[in-house]
Amino acid sequence: MKGVIIAAGYGTRFLPASKTIPKELFPLVNKPAISFIVDEFIAAGIEELLIITSRRKKALDDYFDHEIELEEVFRREGKTRLLKTIEPAPLAVSFIRQQEMRGTGDAILLAEGFAAGQPVCVAYPDDIVLGAAPLAAQLAASARDDKDAVLGVMTVPRSETNRYGIIAPGDNGMVQSIIEKPAVEKTPSCLATIGRYVLPPAIFPILREEKKRHAGGEFFLTGAINILAEQGKARYTEFEGKRLDVGDTLGYIQATIEYALTMPELAKELADWIRTRVEKN
Ligand code: G1P
Repeated sequence: MKGVIIAAGYGTRFLPASKTIPKELFPLVNKPAISFIVDEFIAAGIEELLIITSRRKKALDDYFDHEIELEEVFRREGKTRLLKTIEPAPLAVSFIRQQEMRGTGDAILLAEGFAAGQPVCVAYPDDIVLGAAPLAAQLAASARDDKDAVLGVMTVPRSETNRYGIIAPGDNGMVQSIIEKPAVEKTPSCLATIGRYVLPPAIFPILREEKKRHAGGEFFLTGAINILAEQGKARYTEFEGKRLDVGDTLGYIQATIEYALTMPELAKELADWIRTRVEKN
């Protein structure tokens, strides 16, 4: 399985900061948000990664390259620990640009050549899952063969179903259908998909056909998943771990605190500070 991260989006919720800094590089303390997904992929055994970017995201290319000058300084000074922090991630990373922001389906189509007939795990960079077996591996384990799509789902309160792609679950872990952001009173379940999908090679011809028929506006992945579901090739799995939404300002703050609380050098002082700080409100 190969990995794909769709990172072309504007990040409007984080303007003005995202005017020049890709939101995927915003740090949770000292680790860029995208690195959590890259680490998940590496832990799941993925060796090849495609990042779909856009012209405003050049810093992403640099982040995954060597920082020659700093590396030389640290090497000269014997600062091995610092050297390790800036080493490029140990997997083959390539980039492709989405030229117009036309939606998730359009972005994923750009990965067809990279996939080269293999299944891919597609990640939306806003969704980070902490504290469990790597999510990509959890999903891959639910696929029966290379023809299955697998969606990671979590149970959300009914009142929040209008913020997610929601599935109608069938028998034995099969997805009957998926609907993007249904009205709360019409939701088929409270099982919300997050931005992590194992997709089979068959997704690409379906997306191409769907794109031809698409009337305009953003072209989502959802329609193609519904076609796979009709063919009995879409499964879901209720994943383990804590999902954090770093694409949302509150979610980003929460994720930063959650991660900081896992860092031995910060956890205690931060927890103490939060307790006293909250009492003052
Ligand atoms: C996207 C997907 C949606 C999914 C969500 C999870 O929506 O389209 O199906 O539930 O990610 O984060 P977005 O949040 O980008 O609007």
